[in-house]
Amino acid sequence: MAFKYLEDKKIFIIETDNTAYSFGYHKDGHCKFLYFGEKLYDFKDYPDLSEYTDRSWWLWDEEHSLRGGANFNEPLLKISFENNERDIFTEYKSHSIKENTLSVVTEDRAHKTEITFIYKVFPECDIISKSVKVKNYSDNTIIIEDLKSGIFFIPVKNDPLKFTYFSGLWAHETVKSSEFLSDGKKILESRTGQTSVYFNPFFTADPGNTTEDYGEVWFGALAWSGNWKITLHKQKYEMFSVSAGMNDFDSEFVLNPGEEIISPEFFIGYSSSGYEKVTHNLHDLQKKYFLKSYKAIRPVLYNSWEATYFDVNYENQSKLAEIASEIGAEIFVTDDGWFGKRNSDRSGLGDWYVNPDKFPEGLTPLINKVKSLGMEFGLWVEPEMVNPDSELYKNHPDWIYRFSGNEPTLWRNQYILNIAKPEVKKYIIDFMEKLLSENDIRYIKWDMNRPILESGNNYGGINTKSVWKDHVDSLYEIWEYLTEKYKNVFFESCSGGGGRADLGILKYADHFWTSDNTDPFDRQFIQNGFSEIYQTKTMYCWVTDWNGRDTYPLSYRFAVSMMGSLGIGMDLFKLSDDEKEISKKYISLYKSIRDVVQNGKLYRIKDPNYDAYTVNEYLYADKIVIIGVRNHKKMSSFEIPHIKLRGLEDNSFYYIEDYNITLSGKALMARGINIPLKKPFDSAVIKIKKV
Ligand code: DGJ
Repeated sequence: MAFKYLEDKKIFIIETDNTAYSFGYHKDGHCKFLYFGEKLYDFKDYPDLSEYTDRSWWLWDEEHSLRGGANFNEPLLKISFENNERDIFTEYKSHSIKENTLSVVTEDRAHKTEITFIYKVFPECDIISKSVKVKNYSDNTIIIEDLKSGIFFIPVKNDPLKFTYFSGLWAHETVKSSEFLSDGKKILESRTGQTSVYFNPFFTADPGNTTEDYGEVWFGALAWSGNWKITLHKQKYEMFSVSAGMNDFDSEFVLNPGEEIISPEFFIGYSSSGYEKVTHNLHDLQKKYFLKSYKAIRPVLYNSWEATYFDVNYENQSKLAEIASEIGAEIFVTDDGWFGKRNSDRSGLGDWYVNPDKFPEGLTPLINKVKSLGMEFGLWVEPEMVNPDSELYKNHPDWIYRFSGNEPTLWRNQYILNIAKPEVKKYIIDFMEKLLSENDIRYIKWDMNRPILESGNNYGGINTKSVWKDHVDSLYEIWEYLTEKYKNVFFESCSGGGGRADLGILKYADHFWTSDNTDPFDRQFIQNGFSEIYQTKTMYCWVTDWNGRDTYPLSYRFAVSMMGSLGIGMDLFKLSDDEKEISKKYISLYKSIRDVVQNGKLYRIKDPNYDAYTVNEYLYADKIVIIGVRNHKKMSSFEIPHIKLRGLEDNSFYYIEDYNITLSGKALMARGINIPLKKPFDSAVIKIKKV
């Protein structure tokens, strides 16, 4: 039983397989956070509210943190009621438990507003999620000025807290940063209208001595693809608080009588055995509850972008397809440039008809050609956008976000469509349906190449401050519809690289385009951060010519890309015969290990942030794969790296194919093995099998 309510003490306990979260009602009506850590033996073991007798008015650990009373923490909710009243005082009303969900219903009677705190539990993943629902049952309109998803507390006494997050910029997404936080606040946020490349909505927090497989760590991930905010706050008390949810920047929601609003989900967890358990739990959550296509192996993909850019046509795509199939690709994706008058990024966005000069007979001949070569076909789209130089914009200039006073900002020569307008949503669904029903397309790469800036919805409009949320809600509706209807199509979420990678879009998407940066050295840092959060098969990694064809050996480029779902983005016309052979060899090797890489548990044996190499171990059923690369920095070339495996059974025996030896799990974990990464740019793929 995941939920327990101790009636006499008014305490709620939520248990997962290994952790517990608890909170309860003080007799004065305040709901206090009580515990978040390892699961204890007995319900009686959890902290009691008696400790709070004298100081319940002191609201620094409010589980249901609201704007009202002596609460100096981040509120989950700010409301402007009638007569400009803004204090919220709630009372417990009822609670219900349905399957994996606990709903605690509270009520601000004076303002006739019902606030429900929702907890979902994912026991085998040691994760719970929090969200907040607000219902206005008064006769007046109320304005929600801030709606967060949840807050929790980390008891770290007087010590600073090590806070780790994943930040970057275009082409440098999800790079790990850590800092010790003492008094004050640290805010991570997006204000770009999408998840953003600047910060990913995920963090870990620990006391400072935590490692991959040792120590305590708390974490949280917000499932939202729009503006968001995570605030870590240390006051002079015994706890850090962490709150997360939609960003209150330029945002408010009008709730008319009878209306309700619900926040996105904030997924939180605790591990007593280091960071890798956090990754395993998050990956398991995605496998079981998010990825509809989890069981499907991700195909080796070829993407045309870096070979032909906007200059795509039947001839060059068919020729690329021939070489792609020869080296072993399984799906051929034609990127930007196939539609409208799209010869550069200056025109054509919004005009989703096949360009007749480039594909005189439509896409069918290319698709047939690709299929005759034994591959599936995929296509790039950017449906939320329009170039001013397009038929769509000429016909519907009022479809974009803007305020009426100033000219809206052009970014990559494009504007953003107000996709919450029913006619715009219909336009997008209609053209996508036409594309998908008239053509045998098995892969859609859905891109978004600019942020939302002028959030005016339709030349003044009514409440333009809800635009940030409306855009995401509408996007989710469109994705839900399309992914439900076209179940045999893979949908990739791309936003100029990894700008829309989060658990919100992952309810619909099959995977992400991780980053436009495919330099194999830089990529190790991006992939290391990305895969800490997102399941390995969601991370597409292409071998390309980024930063030059001769900067790194092809074997090193392949090994780095084999640490996720493998793709190829090279200009195949430039491949020499030797390079073709190397590519064939590595693609075939990848196919022989990808069930383990894509489905297995990931262990970061050597982390490029601290070592001169990356070595990942993937463990799936009785198979293990080690992929390692050595970089050109930090170490003397005489040292041969030694690795100790993790996650094996002490008493079982494992055969290392490449070394032709059999060792016990204990030996592989305690004694370890050498890995042949002797020189800079060496790479190794080692297959191990339990015997
Ligand atoms: C940005 C993406 O990240 C690239 O891979 C490519 O699809 C371009 N957009 C196309 O405009």
